[in-house]
Amino acid sequence: MFGPEPKCLVVVGAQWGDEGKGKLVDVLAERADVVVRYQGGANAGHTVVIGDSKFILRLIPSGILQPRTICVLGNGVVLDPEALLGEVDALEAQGIATGGRLKVSDRAHLVLPYHKLLDLAEERRQNIGTTKRGIGPAYEDKYGRRGIRVAALRDGAGLEALLAPRIDRANELLDLAGMPERADLAAHRELLSRLAPRILAMATDTGHFLHLALRGGKRVLLEGAQGSLLDVDHGTYPYVTSSNTTAGGAAVGAGIGPTEIGAVLGVVKAYTTRVGNGPLPTAAAAPQEEELRRIGHEFGAVTGRPRRCGWFDAPVVRYAARVNGLTALAVTKLDVLDTFEEIPVGVGYRLGGEVMSEMPADVAVLERVEPVYQTLPGWRASTAQARRMEDLPREARAYLDCLERLGETPIRYVSVGTRRDQIIEV
Ligand code: IMP
Ligand code: MG
Repeated sequence: MFGPEPKCLVVVGAQWGDEGKGKLVDVLAERADVVVRYQGGANAGHTVVIGDSKFILRLIPSGILQPRTICVLGNGVVLDPEALLGEVDALEAQGIATGGRLKVSDRAHLVLPYHKLLDLAEERRQNIGTTKRGIGPAYEDKYGRRGIRVAALRDGAGLEALLAPRIDRANELLDLAGMPERADLAAHRELLSRLAPRILAMATDTGHFLHLALRGGKRVLLEGAQGSLLDVDHGTYPYVTSSNTTAGGAAVGAGIGPTEIGAVLGVVKAYTTRVGNGPLPTAAAAPQEEELRRIGHEFGAVTGRPRRCGWFDAPVVRYAARVNGLTALAVTKLDVLDTFEEIPVGVGYRLGGEVMSEMPADVAVLERVEPVYQTLPGWRASTAQARRMEDLPREARAYLDCLERLGETPIRYVSVGTRRDQIIEV
């Protein structure tokens, strides 16, 4: 499957996250030696179904489910030690051996309990609809040059000197926000001294490790989390996450040079979903949204929140293709559309009398646009058994042709179900 792909491949979400990257990376990881997460943290929820078992991965790359793959949490990740070790324990309990296969960057920043309190405080004011995993406040500390990195766990006294001022500052901010909760220094100390040995056992210079792996001809897959429209630079700001989810972030967050990357695969759902606040131009009318959500099981993997559902939005995917430099698309969840009589596809946005050709910078503008739809006939037949394009109904192939044309990117994979084998390679 991964055969014709280059040695170093980036997989990104080309919509608002939850495109099915987890499943795709799991499949591609069969032929990868190393899988790397390069941004985000435990806000991600990658669902992978193998046989009767369902795995939800938050921090650990989906590659962990392939027995030989080495998994890396790069320097660009914000690492919640409790979440990471909880995930390791859960995987081990489900029979997945992680020992020696998981490496974390000693330059990655830690997400601590006080970050989660600050996330709650900030949500009161801004209501972005975050996952409340402390992601934004952890990146604020990083860029504010007051973050605590994995490497700091090596030096107990130094760590103590870093921690106390962070807790004081957090409590000042909580006070200002009128929050009754307080960050507790002793509890943070206890948490870190308890978890540090296990984290440090995995900690290394992962950029150097990847450099050597690439030099040695190993296949490296860089697994994006969230989606391109949640990128802090290119997304629907301020309704975004706090990292660069797009392919450019992969080099920075993994600690390799951009010239190492050979291709960028954009994962898109055959329709569109969004969880959290912010515009969704192609939102479906209530009965159809309900139908998409029910058939597609569109509930957040981390938070359980119902996802908003709508139709494929070609301007979004075209934009994602441009900002990521996508070389191919993987279309997922085609089977969710099996029962629809007609399927609208958003082909452009209209604002006033004008048709817009590019994504506006201002979210207020995107809130006001009217999508222009082209309606395609449905196929009213199951696609779940298809393993080659020829197995698909004619209307389903026409639908994919339309996405490919409008997205201006060739389709390389089509996923037709949650199982590993339910995939078509084009
Ligand atoms: P944060 O990343 O928790 O700060 O949340 C910021 C925005 O990104 C919110 O709209 C979240 O719902 C969204 N978000 C964060 N992680 C994911 C994800 O893995 N899938 C989909 N949406 C996400
Ligand atoms: Mg998800």
